[in-house]
Amino acid sequence: TPLSLIRNFSIIAHIDHGKSTLADRMIQACGALTAREMTNQVLDNMDLERERGITIKAQTVRLLYPAKDGQTYVLNLMDTPGHVDFAYEVSRSLAACEGSLLVVDASQGVEAQTLANVYQAIDANHEIVPILNKVDLPAAEPERVKAQIEEVIGIPADDAVEISAKTGLNIEGVLEAVVTRLPPPQGDAEKPLQAMLIDSWYDPYLGVIVLVRVKEGRLRRGIKMRMMSSGAVHQIDQVGVFSPRMTPVDSIGPGEMGYINAAIKTVADCNVGDTITDDRRPAEKALAGFKPSIPVVWCGLFPVVADDFEKLRDSLAKLRLNDASFHYEAETSAALGFGFRCGFLGLLHLEIIQERLSREFDLDLIATAPSVVYNITMTNGTKEVLHNPADMPDLSQIDHIEEPWIKATIMVPDEYLGAVLTLCSERRGVQADLTYVGTRAMAVYRLPLNEVVFDFYDRLKSLTRGYASFDYQMDGYEESDLVRISILVNQEPVDALSFIAHRSASETRGRAICARLKDLIPRQLFKIAIQAAIGSKVIARETIGALSKDVTAKCYGGDISRKRKLLEKQKEGKKRMRQFGKVEIPQSAFLAALKMD
Ligand code: GTP
Repeated sequence: TPLSLIRNFSIIAHIDHGKSTLADRMIQACGALTAREMTNQVLDNMDLERERGITIKAQTVRLLYPAKDGQTYVLNLMDTPGHVDFAYEVSRSLAACEGSLLVVDASQGVEAQTLANVYQAIDANHEIVPILNKVDLPAAEPERVKAQIEEVIGIPADDAVEISAKTGLNIEGVLEAVVTRLPPPQGDAEKPLQAMLIDSWYDPYLGVIVLVRVKEGRLRRGIKMRMMSSGAVHQIDQVGVFSPRMTPVDSIGPGEMGYINAAIKTVADCNVGDTITDDRRPAEKALAGFKPSIPVVWCGLFPVVADDFEKLRDSLAKLRLNDASFHYEAETSAALGFGFRCGFLGLLHLEIIQERLSREFDLDLIATAPSVVYNITMTNGTKEVLHNPADMPDLSQIDHIEEPWIKATIMVPDEYLGAVLTLCSERRGVQADLTYVGTRAMAVYRLPLNEVVFDFYDRLKSLTRGYASFDYQMDGYEESDLVRISILVNQEPVDALSFIAHRSASETRGRAICARLKDLIPRQLFKIAIQAAIGSKVIARETIGALSKDVTAKCYGGDISRKRKLLEKQKEGKKRMRQFGKVEIPQSAFLAALKMD
């Protein structure tokens, strides 16, 4: 295909504004799948994504579009995730494209995530075509949203394409805009091969699959390819494109996206952003890569059954093949035995990995409290990086601790602004900016990441009935007065529950966790004391009364439905119990205990 007939583009949008629906419509319009095959959104191809209704991995699809000018174009579409945890995936897709469709829900307008993504696209030199989606809704205000796009983002929106991805209205208009308004890729098929490694994942039948974008030269089946950063060489067994199913082809040329399968065994060979070249005729230098994602939230994952340790290790290795942003290393806990300390991009990422481990790999796990990465300077001058509260040295040996801060942008309708400002200041936030975009306020806050990792996003959503949008960037480290809070159950420290907090919040949080654990730990045949302590100083305490032998007898007095729920909860909990001394603690208690409100 001549380059002039290729368009590589991504769709960027705030969560729920309709990216996946639009992508599906475009696939349908290009006849890549029959209606029967379109039963589910194709791009969201993991069960979890479908259930949560969010896009996690960037996916790519190749479409053939017969345009009005009589030519048939090859359209390579990259879907991008909408959640803040996965912002790095966005940069990865953008690096592989020349243009973006900016999808904005015409009944909602511009959101924080829209802004963040669009700035990334502008940085990547993209041509941007605004698309106003959901014009079928009575609440749609395309003119107002156009004005907003111009005012807030600063790109012309006069000829924004108005569509309804749901009803299929004007999908043709989108396809024509891709062809006429986005630039074709550039590159020379005769030059030495340079292809960018965009993503890699593990396929149970084929092994490692590598997603690439060819910049220069041709990538052919059978050649020996070389990874320019590691120097590793592999014979390419298969080259193919996604249409949208994996379809083998002989070669892919400049401007094209596709996959290769080269029996690559170790993920160490597949660095995202690496340049792939031909071992026989290598390129002189690598393409400018994009920055690797750094895990900012860590927690321990331990098998409930110690025998599952090897299985957990294998499963983590497989997940890592699919997800280079996920990190792990072996860890031993006094209370939980052998496990792994794992690093994630954010809390959603953590929850997703945990769910995949239990669902796809059938593992029962206990997760410890999520923690951010602290920089500690000891009194003797040495520095330590701490991502496990259990490893925190004694305060007397610490000169000072620094914690990571973020810069958060929150957009919210005026009437919820008060609640948002209160939430931010409760979490030690410092206001950096407050402006208005129509009737929506845009608050920019600096916040300690530590205060955001547990449940900030959930709280924000519930305080604003889901109307707030949130986005953040890392914003350096600052010294802080931090302490470790230990949780004791019947005097036994549960190291898995210890956490680090600002001294000013330690008592409130300690008390909240004890109160929560009181509800989460089922009554047992003896009294249970739950305590929170800093060092040897107890700062909070709760007691769970002993269970009377005849549980059901209680149902005849008081609130029966509540009791029934309690019994069901106990039954549910039995499946995943962990023994601490004499006390059994359900696995669900570990994460739930750390949510604050
Ligand atoms: P993520 O994948 O989570 O980032 O979201 P998304 O932007 O891909 O949104 P998705 O396509 O899943 O659409 C979100 C919701 O909006 C779904 O319930 C769609 O059915 C609905 N939706 C999408 N397009 C339209 C539209 O044109 N009109 C109406 N009324 N609803 C739409």
